[in-house]
Amino acid sequence: MADAGKTVHIPVLLAGVLAQLGDLKNKKIVDGTFGGGGYSTAFLEAGAHVLAIDRDTVALERGKKIQEKYQGKLSLSHGSFADLNEILKKNGWDGADAIVLDLGISSDQLDTAERGFGYQNDGPLDMRMGNTGSTAANILATASEHELASIFKNYGDEPKAKPLAKKIVQQRKEQPVTTTREFLELIEQVYPPRQGLNRRHPAQRIFQALRIAVNDELKAVEEVVPQAIENLNVGGKFCVVTFHSLEDRFIKNAMRDICQSELDNVGRLVKQANFRQPVKKVVPTQEEVENNPRARSATLRVLERVSS
Ligand SMILES: C[S@@+](CC[C@H](N)C(=O)[O-])C[C@H]1O[C@@H](n2cnc3c(N)ncnc32)[C@H](O)[C@@H]1O
Repeated sequence: MADAGKTVHIPVLLAGVLAQLGDLKNKKIVDGTFGGGGYSTAFLEAGAHVLAIDRDTVALERGKKIQEKYQGKLSLSHGSFADLNEILKKNGWDGADAIVLDLGISSDQLDTAERGFGYQNDGPLDMRMGNTGSTAANILATASEHELASIFKNYGDEPKAKPLAKKIVQQRKEQPVTTTREFLELIEQVYPPRQGLNRRHPAQRIFQALRIAVNDELKAVEEVVPQAIENLNVGGKFCVVTFHSLEDRFIKNAMRDICQSELDNVGRLVKQANFRQPVKKVVPTQEEVENNPRARSATLRVLERVSS
């Protein structure tokens, strides 16, 4: 169980990120997803100045201890990385040598029952990373059957999206679902009991899909990309760790497009691209996955600014 003062989050693909970033001494790094502060601490240890952002005030509160330790080198900013331009400006940064995003939620959030992210603890069905906007319970109580089915289908690739949405709408006529336990019980009415010990519970992807909708996570990723490339210094890198195929596909395509040089209609080079991808992608080693099963679905993609 997570406690408010100490992180339980084990950073994913940190070694891969550090290997991509190289020498960090006196570099300016934006950690757009502070979480348990694992990445930020490693950047600070390597001599960087860090501007860390998180939507979650609990995560930032925990970060104050790290801030004390690395006096003057860590700034903590509450907000969404989707507002990167504004956050950089507010903190007096006119560019960055790296911008790093490690998407999704932290184990601290997942393991805190009252946040309602996980199906393994009982708590209010909240799922908000920040403290604004609709809760998951609210979405289940108000979205149309069609909207609910789209959430489970699009964000969870859920084969039973339609029967699940139907069940939610039927159930809410009697009593809306307000807790994680109630939602799990409803999912188990749509799915027969689990067979085999190693099978992942369908609730995992269904909860994840709902969380993505509650926090409008894809929109934030779409919005940050142009701002990240605009603010990268020459030689700077934009590193993104994703845990979900939709996010990864978006990042992969966006990075590929940004690296395209401009050609005329007979294929002659008109303008060389300002960016390149130093690696296709980085995935965790088997050893990392064994030590930290959360790393299983992680993919790191990197973009480097080579000219202005
Ligand atoms: C996977 S955790 C990051 C863990 C961190 N790299 C570490 O090593 O401790 C993701 C964090 O990003 C935050 N987050 C997700 N989307 C965000 C957004 N759009 N803006 C700011 N923070 C966000 C979450 O609240 C969570 O704390």
